[in-house]
Amino acid sequence: MTSSRTVNPHLLHTLFRADDIDRRVRELAENIRNDISERPLTVLVVLKGAFVFAADLVRVLGVPLKIEFICVSSYGTATVSSHQTEILLEPKDLSGRFVLVVDDICDTGYTMQCVKKRALELGADSVKTCTLLDKPSRREVDCAVDYAGFVIPDVFVAGYGIDCAGEHRELPDIYVVET
Ligand code: IMP
Ligand code: MG
Repeated sequence: MTSSRTVNPHLLHTLFRADDIDRRVRELAENIRNDISERPLTVLVVLKGAFVFAADLVRVLGVPLKIEFICVSSYGTATVSSHQTEILLEPKDLSGRFVLVVDDICDTGYTMQCVKKRALELGADSVKTCTLLDKPSRREVDCAVDYAGFVIPDVFVAGYGIDCAGEHRELPDIYVVET
């Protein structure tokens, strides 16, 4: 048995290695920490893609917080957004909370726009948005990302929680995927 890991051949090349991601997550955490002051923070994690990023981010934030999850279907197994968002899971109540929405990627912006609106409807005092990856060239709706890890071009990626047709979430690095 070999100890080296076999990466699926349709993964093209590494875009960000785990140590680059780790460094950037720590920088994002510092920026967020400086902006929070004493406000009661809820991190609202967008499932499934943000689960690895959010787990790393909350552990280096170093402030008391609550975690909630929201699941919005937009992609299914395809690599092109349907532009239709449906909320499959959401928190009961966010009243009085300063909400930080954490997603893996902001692409067309529909998901982030939908989650931000829903967080306010659920009573959030204010909402900020954070994505590990931002593809501004793909944006179709006006959706500001307050904290973005890396700005990337129009490529399809997987790894570090991000999937391609449900696969590759477990990979520690982020890869560009052939589509
Ligand atoms: P948006 O609603 O078009 O902004 O899509 C955002 C969601 O699409 C993200 O939360 C991701 O789950 C998914 N997504 C966008 N780009 C990619 C990609 O390159 N790889 C995998 N998922 C992606
Ligand atoms: Mg997603």
